[in-house]
Amino acid sequence: MYVEKIPWTANYEETEIPAYTLPDALLCQDGTTVKNAEEWQNKRRPELLEIFKKEMYGQILPMPDHVEYEVLTDSKPALDGIAMMRQTRIHFKMDNGKSHDVDVLMFTPAKEGKHPVFVGLTFVGNHVCSTDPEIIITGRRMDASEEYQKDLESKRGFQERRFPLKEIISRGYAIAFACYNDIFPDRPSGWKESALNLFIPIGELASPSGYSSIGVWSWGISRILDYVSTLPEIDAEKACVFGHSRLGKTSLWTGVIDERFKLVCVNDSGCGGAALSRRLYGETLFSMMHYTGIGKYWFTATLRPYVYATDTLPMDQHELIALVAPRAVAVHSATEDQWADPTGEYLSAYYAGKVFSLFGKEPLKSLTPPPPDTPVGTDVSYFERTGKHDILLSDWTHYMDMADRIFKK
Ligand code: GCU
Repeated sequence: MYVEKIPWTANYEETEIPAYTLPDALLCQDGTTVKNAEEWQNKRRPELLEIFKKEMYGQILPMPDHVEYEVLTDSKPALDGIAMMRQTRIHFKMDNGKSHDVDVLMFTPAKEGKHPVFVGLTFVGNHVCSTDPEIIITGRRMDASEEYQKDLESKRGFQERRFPLKEIISRGYAIAFACYNDIFPDRPSGWKESALNLFIPIGELASPSGYSSIGVWSWGISRILDYVSTLPEIDAEKACVFGHSRLGKTSLWTGVIDERFKLVCVNDSGCGGAALSRRLYGETLFSMMHYTGIGKYWFTATLRPYVYATDTLPMDQHELIALVAPRAVAVHSATEDQWADPTGEYLSAYYAGKVFSLFGKEPLKSLTPPPPDTPVGTDVSYFERTGKHDILLSDWTHYMDMADRIFKK
């Protein structure tokens, strides 16, 4: 057994990766092996899902007692007339008086019809996606200080590159998102201002066991999908979930638990996302949960005992990708994002393949990752973009190519 050591340093040498054996996705806890899609669905999938809930991402949150949609800005032309833009406040209310709200920004192709949709979350605030002054500043829950709020206002359009809106709309897709900080402020004390308050009492500094911020963010994405499903111009049968980095970890978990998503787009998600946990390359669970501690609250506290020796984990991330089957998944990496372990992300998608095969879906064929900028695969697909940790037009182009194929556009 390999045990992580302090001081910890990230390993970037293939030859230095301690030997590991991955759990067999098809091997049930009772020692039998799944032989067909039905056994996977009825037996192995539920037990694996329980393991991921219990040991990593936490409970799946329920529906609130009441949901109301308030129009903040009515649907109106945007992006030089090719799109309609609207902003909606979702009010969540409980019979006991608790409430929470989240603002959703949405762009839909202006042309008539029912459109497939990408649903996800953004860092910082909705207004980072465009310089359009009509976009309401969101993400205010992250930090109430005057300084943060002022800085937040200066962020209009600063991540435009991550939202190639005109290209998305031109290809016939709608896109809807909210700021993750409005669902669970991304800090260790974020619990108290998070949507989890709707369901459980949260004390001053409590980090409630059995929950994770990723679990709460995922709940938020599903509630955005509920909302867009009420709109006549959206074809909710054709929904895709997207997310980058810690939000890529989130999009993968969301895609697993919310089967309404037919395509799961996972971008540069790295450790705790698509990358194999046992492959100690770049960031590791030990670093994330203990050494740097950056992601302590992203996952449940139950994950902690495993992070010192990842071969004690009862699962690994290829099994999480497998839980998306028979729906489609696209795993993306970037060449300059070795922290996220592109090869570990590829191998995870590769090893998930045998579950997809049970459904007659196509697994990745080669144990060797493809060269950069060369997408491979159909139902399970992989793409490594040249460049930094980011989500850019070429990532979106591949996600939309996947969606086109699935939805036969
Ligand atoms: C850090 C963290 C990653 C995470 C990333 C992000 O790099 O270590 O696990 O994915 O932040 O979300 O930007």
